[in-house]
Amino acid sequence: MRNTVSPYFFLLLSILGFAQIDCSDQRSGNKTMSNEELVARGKYLANFGGCNDCHSPKIMTNMGPVPDTTKLLSGHPEGGQLPPIDTSITNSKGVFTTMDLTAWAGPWGISFPINLTPDGETGIGNWTEEVFFKAMREGKHLGAGRPILPPMPWQSLASLKDEDLRAIFLYLKSLKPVHNKVLDPIAPNMVAQTANKGK
Ligand code: HEC
Repeated sequence: MRNTVSPYFFLLLSILGFAQIDCSDQRSGNKTMSNEELVARGKYLANFGGCNDCHSPKIMTNMGPVPDTTKLLSGHPEGGQLPPIDTSITNSKGVFTTMDLTAWAGPWGISFPINLTPDGETGIGNWTEEVFFKAMREGKHLGAGRPILPPMPWQSLASLKDEDLRAIFLYLKSLKPVHNKVLDPIAPNMVAQTANKGK
């Protein structure tokens, strides 16, 4: 009887075990990030997520278009001329885009990547984090309106955890504000007349 180990001993051991796991978790850096760290992570995610591909105006080089770093993420350039669009392509569910990837014609009409800089009038300066989260999670314009049009990959952003989505939002808010009014989308039945008016 005296040689048997008390069941409480095992209980104590397991509690100690848990306590140890808990400590090592804290040591592995599970702390909340500072604002600066979040902005840096947001930049990293936005670069990897290809936001510049569609939302940044481009400069043409011998190796093709590269983002114009003076207007990063400011969207389809205001006053930019749309090239003629062959509507037989878009009517047959094909897609047409410009060299800088800032205008996209397809069966949904023509969509224009928006100005993601924090300009109050033309960008996301007045957006709250709640609006951004709702828009990216539910795929609705401004979080509550019409469906967000292709090829905006909101479905990929929807799968990010809260901290990463917040990091992207804080990074966008930290950008240099660029005043650039992006066109509203053009409905499918208006594509021919809008895109071919210069012809
Ligand atoms: C393949 C092109 C493409 C890529 C890549 C892309 N976007 Fe977009 N984005 C668009 C287009 C086009 C629109 C406009 C859609 C519309 O008018 O409904 C848009 C719209 C948006 C909007 C506005 C949503 C709303 O409420 O109307 C936000 C915010 C946004 N993009 C953020 C991002 C972020 C952040 C990234 C990078 C992680 C990104 N986009 C990558 C094409 C793209």
